Amino acid sequence: MPAAPTTPSAFLAACRSEPHDHVPVWFMRQAGRSLPEYRSVRGPGSILDAIAQPDLAAEITLQPVRRYGVDAAILYSDIVVPAAAIGFGVDVAPGTGPVVEQPFRSAADLDRLRPLEPDTDTPYVLETVDLLVRELTVPLIGFAGAPFTVASYLIEGAPSRTYGRTKALMLEDEPLWHLLLDRLADIAITSITSQVAHGARAAQLFDSWAGALAPPDYVRYVLPHSTKVLDAVRTLGVPTIHFGVGTGEILASMADAGSDVVGVDWRVPLDVARSRVHPDQALQGNLDPARCLAGWEVVADGVRDVLARNGGHPGHVFNLGHGVLPETDPGILEQVVALVHDEGTVQPAPTD
Ligand code: CP3
Repeated sequence: MPAAPTTPSAFLAACRSEPHDHVPVWFMRQAGRSLPEYRSVRGPGSILDAIAQPDLAAEITLQPVRRYGVDAAILYSDIVVPAAAIGFGVDVAPGTGPVVEQPFRSAADLDRLRPLEPDTDTPYVLETVDLLVRELTVPLIGFAGAPFTVASYLIEGAPSRTYGRTKALMLEDEPLWHLLLDRLADIAITSITSQVAHGARAAQLFDSWAGALAPPDYVRYVLPHSTKVLDAVRTLGVPTIHFGVGTGEILASMADAGSDVVGVDWRVPLDVARSRVHPDQALQGNLDPARCLAGWEVVADGVRDVLARNGGHPGHVFNLGHGVLPETDPGILEQVVALVHDEGTVQPAPTD
């Protein structure tokens, strides 16, 4: 296994609310269609084909690190890669998102979700991680889709606005629901564990669509499974980040799942979010990605507002509240990184 970089990382320190010298920043979906260099190397076809080519996937992961000077890289992959790799029949349609030939409908479909064996099912992911840890001077973030969000794709068969079928299965057949989410939790754990074994230095659990749930349903049907994933990843010794969109009403419950960092979208001001998580947890976020489509002064005001609401708390990783929109001008994101690095301040860790 390659040696870990020895330079101290502001990103890793902020994840643990430990002292560091500048506010770290990275962007969800920093690699992708907003970058001309991405569009020129990506090639046509499914993103799964690009992910299966380690040289290409590593290059795409590095592109935003070079261009923006962000404090962390995120592996170029997708949350449906493990399910696709074990043969569930998932693809990612350009411009749409994950689509499934035969969606999950009944207990018989559990047989289509055998355990993930990363060395043989996703060797290309591990090769990409190997290439990256040799090149990178900032930490690599590994990730997995959280059980609920992956289940929503497997059950709906395509991106959904209502999650109607997902919720119907969850509410009608609770035993099957828990069996499904338990399998997806195991797959997430195995996937993240393999990425960390190859040198990823933090792990983000994406429960992007958990905000669609009523809070009591989140607690009953989803929280135990996300907690299981985060408990397992904690034993690996890397910081964990737990993120979803539209999660204001469930933020305290998501915090209870026990990650080091709670990701916050733009709908909850960061100072309010702080009051909803545990005192030792860090926050990640939360500039509205759409704000980056407005002029620089508007963007700068938004960046300064996020920094002010954090008030120099050492447990803050600057990010957008969700992924970079494809139409974003990369020049604006470059300026965001510079502004966060120039004006962000980090107070000493609280002693209480
Ligand atoms: O830079 C990064 O953030 C790293 C790579 C990354 C991708 N997907 C690449 C990708 C990560 C971390 C993901 C996770 C992912 N995939 C999530 C969770 C994060 C989130 O956005 O909430 C979700 C929900 C998915 C499922 C998925 N994959 C969707 C909804 C889409 C968008 C469809 C589209 O074309 O707009 C994808 C495709 C996808 N995954 C792209 C990228 C860069 C789009 C571009 C392409 O096909 O080249």
